[in-house]
Amino acid sequence: MLNPIKVGILGLGTVGGGTVHVLQQNAKEIARRAGRGIIVTHACAKELNNTYSYQTDKIVLTKELSELVNHPELDIIVELLGGTAIAREMTLQAIANGKHVVTANKALIAKHGNEIFAAAQEKGVMVAFEAAVGGGIPIIKAIREGLAANKIKWAAGIINGTSNFILSEMREKKSDFADVLAEAQRLGYAEKDPTFDIEGVDAAHKLTIIASIAFGIPLQFDKVYMEGITNIAPEDVQYANELGYRIKHLGITKRTKKGIELRVHPTFVPNKRLIANVEGVMNAILIESDALGQSLYYGAGAGALPTGSAIIADLVDVTRALTTDSDHRVPHLAFQADALSDLPIVPIEEIEASYYLRLSAQDKLGVLAHVTNILSENAISIEAIIQKEPISGAEHVSIVILTHQVVEKQINKAIQAIENLDGLMEKVIRIRLEMLNTEMLQN
Ligand code: HSE
Repeated sequence: MLNPIKVGILGLGTVGGGTVHVLQQNAKEIARRAGRGIIVTHACAKELNNTYSYQTDKIVLTKELSELVNHPELDIIVELLGGTAIAREMTLQAIANGKHVVTANKALIAKHGNEIFAAAQEKGVMVAFEAAVGGGIPIIKAIREGLAANKIKWAAGIINGTSNFILSEMREKKSDFADVLAEAQRLGYAEKDPTFDIEGVDAAHKLTIIASIAFGIPLQFDKVYMEGITNIAPEDVQYANELGYRIKHLGITKRTKKGIELRVHPTFVPNKRLIANVEGVMNAILIESDALGQSLYYGAGAGALPTGSAIIADLVDVTRALTTDSDHRVPHLAFQADALSDLPIVPIEEIEASYYLRLSAQDKLGVLAHVTNILSENAISIEAIIQKEPISGAEHVSIVILTHQVVEKQINKAIQAIENLDGLMEKVIRIRLEMLNTEMLQN
């Protein structure tokens, strides 16, 4: 067998520790697959994180990132720094030095991937990023290689475990958002500053990557429409339940006649769909493609060992491909670099979806009739409508409406007219609804 491949890790925290642990624990099995051993010889970290037990005596520790990316003995750099500024700099430096890079950094790929892949292509090295989307789920490989025969129609994914955990708990325990967020922070699922998770930024990074490899388009993070879960009220979770739906925070990308839709937001999903039953911190990505039909990829979206599993799969891929001509490797973004197409991204006002609307109105004659008139004037067809009995003592009632598919700007126009009605107490709550069936793409 050839000499082992030498790896340097930038950032030996939880995920880095998990990666070294699995590499050592399964060393023989990994070498049988890769054709040679893969060993971490250098790591950059303030201190060793030994949450996962691994042998440290053969790992050279340093605090200088540049020492690793410039180290002549290292073949592959694993970038686990997080953030984008230093991570970008170190990744480009490693590439310039002819090193292959494996990263779990979704923000880095979503925002700087076009530049990084161009540099890697130029230099004939690989940049692998399986761990950037869906944690341990091999979704990049599934789309890029497993579905290579297919024209992909759409993908819809639960790609942020923190948001999914919060929505699951809100439904199961009938709790409100703030209480569950505090619990998620206590359990270590949500970070101290949870903004990226609960405002949809993390999911938007991941969706950018999925869309690029699904449709062969450049990475376009700045064009993703982003909505988080902070405005989801317990009553919406309950009404969804009553109507046979679950609210899931989804990243959705679709190929339509107008272009590519790129959006992350809370979504009503029929509760009979498998993906609607993905609970807690788990992730799942549902893909509709022309030859295979629907396929669903489910698993742990975070965590030291699952993320380590994805990183090591990339290390094995890179190791196997080392002797191949760089022009004949699997392209970074699934399609040949000169075959990417610049399809337009559909503005959010132009997307088509169904909608859940919740209105809080005075309990008086004619309000409901006015509301339905406005909807019909705007050519919005109603799928279901419920007026809830007023809670005792309250002067207002909740009216819940599900619409058929309509262009978003049309529903916005109708909402504006409804909010101007005499007797409306609060702003209308609007949540998009997707059936996630094969007909989802008839527009
Ligand atoms: N913060 C992410 C999540 C995990 O909550 O899913 C890492 O991508």
